[in-house]
This record gives sequence, C-alpha cells and structure tokens, in this order.
Amino acid sequence: MLERVSQAPSRVGGDVLYAWDELVQEDRVHRLIYTDPAIFAAEMTHVFGGTWVYLAHESEIPGNNDYITRHLGLRPLIVVRDAHGKIRALYNRCTHRGTTLCRWPKGNAGSFQCPYHGWSFLNTGKLRGVPWPEGYAADFRDPKYNVAQVPRVESYRGFIFGTLNLDAPPLLQWLGPITKPIDQWLDRNPGGQVVVCEANRLKFKGNWKLAYDNSGDGYHVVYSHRSLLETENRLSEEGNKGMAFYRSSPDTAPMYVQYMGNGHHFKDKRPNLNQRPGGLWAIESPHPGMEHAEAEFRRRYGERAEALLDLAGSEPVNINVFPNLSLLGNHIQVFEPVSVEETNAIWYGTRIVDANGDLGDALDEINALRMRTQEGFPNFGEVDDVANFEQIQRGLQCLEDEWVYMHRGLGIPGRVRTLDDGTITAPATDEVFMREYIKEWKRLMQTRPNLAIQREP
Ligand code: FES
Ligand SMILES: [Fe+2]
Repeated sequence: MLERVSQAPSRVGGDVLYAWDELVQEDRVHRLIYTDPAIFAAEMTHVFGGTWVYLAHESEIPGNNDYITRHLGLRPLIVVRDAHGKIRALYNRCTHRGTTLCRWPKGNAGSFQCPYHGWSFLNTGKLRGVPWPEGYAADFRDPKYNVAQVPRVESYRGFIFGTLNLDAPPLLQWLGPITKPIDQWLDRNPGGQVVVCEANRLKFKGNWKLAYDNSGDGYHVVYSHRSLLETENRLSEEGNKGMAFYRSSPDTAPMYVQYMGNGHHFKDKRPNLNQRPGGLWAIESPHPGMEHAEAEFRRRYGERAEALLDLAGSEPVNINVFPNLSLLGNHIQVFEPVSVEETNAIWYGTRIVDANGDLGDALDEINALRMRTQEGFPNFGEVDDVANFEQIQRGLQCLEDEWVYMHRGLGIPGRVRTLDDGTITAPATDEVFMREYIKEWKRLMQTRPNLAIQREP
C-alpha cells in the first residue's frame, strides 16, 4: 500500500529560496552548498530520498530474518530479509509514538518489539500486537499502524539500494555504464562475489559532499598523501608501491578518470599495472610482519602463489556511485551524512569465497592478507583526506570569500573527451567528474521528487 507524501518535508528545493544556477556554475560552486543547514535539510529529501541510495550489501543479511540497521539520509532504517527472503527497508520508527524500534546494529529476528510500550511488529512491518488492546477503540487491522517502509528497494549484484521517489528510473537504468567497472571489480573474485565484513569507522566534521568531491581527485595525492607514499615505498627498491604512479606527471600516465552519468564516476588506475599474475600484488605495500606471511604463502603455493596473491591485493580503482558509495581497493566505503558539517566515512572490508572449490586452505590466508590491506590506504590515507575535509569546512567559514573552484581541465582543447556511450574521460588529475556530478546534484535539488512510503496492506 503506497502512501504519497503530500507535504515536502523541507521548504527549500524546487525553485524556492535559492537560485541554484547562481550557486552551481560551470567552473565553481558557492560555499553555501557545504555550509547552509537549509540546503542540507533539502538534500535529505531531494538527494537522500529523491535518488537511489546505497543501503547495505546482501551478504550482510544472508539468511531469512537477518537484519542490519542503516540510514537513508538521516532516516534510521532496518534493512531486513523477511521470513520469505524478501529484502525490505523498514523505517526504524514505531507507529505509536515514533521511537526507534530496533536498537541493535544487526541480528536475526522475525519480529521487533518496541522498547517504549511494547507494540510488536513482524519483520514485514505488519503490526503483530499491542499490550492490553482492550484499552483501544481503534481497529488495529488498519494498515496505518504497520511500520512504514521504503517503497522501492532493488539490488545490483548484491548491492542493495533504495529510493522514496516513484519517478526515479529503474535501478539498472540509473546505474548505467558504472555497472561495467562494478562487474569487473566483482568478477575478478571466485564466483564473481564478495562478502562484506566489519568496518573501519571514521567520522569527520565536514559536509558529506567534500568526501564525494575527493573520491576521484587525482590532483591531491602526492601532496596530501606524501607520508603514506613514503611509508609504502621506504623498503621498496623500485619505488612502485601503493599510489606511486601519481608521483611524476600523473596526467601522462595511462590511468584516467571517467564520468559515467547520473553523478557516478570512475578512476581507473589499472592501466598503470604490469598485467601479469602477481602484477597486482607487486604494488601492495608491505606492513609489519606481512613479509613473513607472504614468504610462507609463496613457499606453500609455489607457481600458483602469484595469481592467488592477486586475490588479496587492492585493486587500483575508485568506483563512485552517487551519492554515497565508493568501491576502492578491497573496500566498500559509504558516506553517511550526519549534519551539514558532520559525516561518517565507513570502510567495510570484504572477503572472498571459494566459489569454485579450488582455493582450499589458501582461502583463509588470502582473506587474512586481504584484511591487512586495511592497514594501507583506509588507515593511513583516509586520515589525510578527512583532515582536508575538516580544514575545508573551517576555511569555508570565511563568509565573504564565496567560491570553491573545480575547473581543472576546463577549456583546454582535447583534454576532456566525450565518448560514444556519452561517458566523459580525462587525465587522472582532472576535476571534470566534480563539475559533472554537481550538475546532477543541482538537477535533483531543482526537481520536486514524487515521494512515497509504503505499508503492508
Ligand atoms: S512508541 Fe512504540 S509502543 Fe509506544
Ligand atoms: Fe585522498
């Protein structure tokens, strides 16, 4: 049963209050888009509500009645696989007086009982019962007492997305060409799959878009991540570990950035690799103690070792799905807005499975090495980035200095190319992906979404 949302939850958006074409120009954006609480409130409807948003991965709720709590913008959700295996995104909100129903981060439950007055709901969202019902004249079979849920929930190869907007295109159409790098990222693993593990959780005092602006930024690497680059390469004779290919003239290297439409973009550093078994592992930076694990691995697996070690190596790609998902290395990063100047940046680890039955004992060792790749960029690089985001948020308090520039590559003939499929490609340090995704952001902010929630009948 669909319930249209008649009142837009914020007064901003559409053409109300802001001249969006003034705030987002071809070469620059206004500081307000990062600092204004009213714009943030509107984003929670127009972006985190108006477009598809990544919610969770199917491997986090593998069995029936498994659930995990998440957010859609600021809305607390319970993402659950119900008793029949259907994946739902329930609002984590009791229909009685509005408290959150589920306080656990994850678990297995056929029903949820509200901690406040004890109303209980099946994991389909349907009201199951209320304490002492004789005190009510109401008919509790009325669907309005069933928990609200996100009306459109769809998966792409394990990645679960949801939107409240009935006018949004089907998920596959909205993802478009970004599915190709997602497929490649998955298909290099046995069975074309990953299992999502626990996360490395960071938070920063800055707007969520600062993280998305940076997600394909090849311009900052050698400056912002200098200490990581030096750490990665201190024991390496060739000096080719980690992100070393950014060191000298990254724009002439074979890597590139590609804008894929609908706000999605892709940084492909794989062309820099030596394409041979072991070529991926060769750029993995050493961590204390790992060399012994690696030497033992090589001793045990002999000729197979190189190819097996590639399954542990971090793939040099950044696959960014607007507005909140990033696949990079072996990790899944999720950006979670908390307030106009507060964001969670969550790095989920992934492991592989022995889908073809030929990994045997090597599986656990590959996954252990794979987990240790968290000790590279996610721990020692991301902190550089979040420091930048916090310092940008501070800098943007200089009220009268209004503009933020993203014009690298703009107006240079031949530098930015539109390909036959409509995607746009440019050298690795180009800011074209920022200019393009922020146009999609502006389009969403200017359009009134057709919002609805759903309840079980
Ligand atoms: S608020 Fe949930 S039972 Fe009262
Ligand atoms: Fe960075």
